[in-house]
Amino acid sequence: MKKILVIGGNGQLGNCIRKIASDFENQYEFTFTDSQTLDITNRDQINDFFYDLKPDFCINASAYTAVDLAEKEEEKAFAVNAEGVGNLAEACADYKTVLIHVSTDYVFDGETNLDYSEDDFTNPIGVYGKSKLTGEELALENNPKTIILRTSWLYSEFNKNFVKTMLNLFSQKDELGIVADQFGQPTNANDLAEAIMTIIEKPNKIFGVFHFSNYPETTWFEFAKKIAEFSKSSVKLNALTTDQYPTPAKRPKRSTMSLDKIEKIYNIEPKHWENSLEDCVNILSQ
Ligand SMILES: NC(=O)c1ccc[n+]([C@@H]2O[C@H](COP(=O)([O-])OP(=O)(O)OC[C@H]3O[C@@H](n4cnc5c(N)ncnc54)[C@H](OP(=O)(O)O)[C@@H]3O)[C@@H](O)[C@H]2O)c1
Repeated sequence: MKKILVIGGNGQLGNCIRKIASDFENQYEFTFTDSQTLDITNRDQINDFFYDLKPDFCINASAYTAVDLAEKEEEKAFAVNAEGVGNLAEACADYKTVLIHVSTDYVFDGETNLDYSEDDFTNPIGVYGKSKLTGEELALENNPKTIILRTSWLYSEFNKNFVKTMLNLFSQKDELGIVADQFGQPTNANDLAEAIMTIIEKPNKIFGVFHFSNYPETTWFEFAKKIAEFSKSSVKLNALTTDQYPTPAKRPKRSTMSLDKIEKIYNIEPKHWENSLEDCVNILSQ
């Protein structure tokens, strides 16, 4: 039976993969790790783990994801998102393991009106994006069998994310201001987990960089409005400009990614973000 190692098993994406793993139990043996059992910044630990398991696939769902804190903790962000990914990719190359690594729309500066394609110029504007971009480069350099999935605005019923923060705030406040001049594509991590399994199941893999998200683009403000609608909240939402809501890390103004490549090569059709959001809000409202 083919073996899949899922690193970052306690994160949003890791939990979503865990949720569907039983659907594949006849084809794949899954091993989930967290930062205690396998710290990707520890090369020896990775080598020992790969020597014992010899995985056919490694899904890297782990990352340093604190975008604002990264501005102060640059070394930590790079240790996990860059060097850690490089370590993993080296181990994958040693064992001919396919590495499926997740990256971000924050590798782009957001200063264009066109949707970003996989080959477009990257120019991250914050530490998190820079560390993720270096991780992409090391993953591709160190292992020829690497697939990078750049995703955006990830949320799920697990862990911390925008949807859960909004639902929490809606229950405490009557009125909220939300940024309305940043554009991107929300992504339900359950959809990303399914896309990863679709890629794993494909016999002839094309390696390289792919974009995956829900579609079409929206703003944080419109996203929040839909969360309120689906959760039947009566909160009043006010549109803010980025200048009215300063954060330690700058965010791209418009990081909308083209999804054509993954659709063409892996036959993965993007889902409308409103439908995927409604599924998540329903789960969280149960
Ligand atoms: N969240 C977003 O909005 C967003 C947007 C675009 C792209 N992405 C990317 O999508 C991927 C999944 O994100 P997510 O939101 O699911 O992440 P998450 O919920 O923040 O989970 C990340 C996991 O990484 C693990 N981790 C951190 N440092 C580690 C280390 N040194 N060794 C091993 N594991 C470590 C943590 O494990 P422990 O809990 O065990 O400490 C944590 O569970 C990441 O690559 C992220 O960069 C996320």
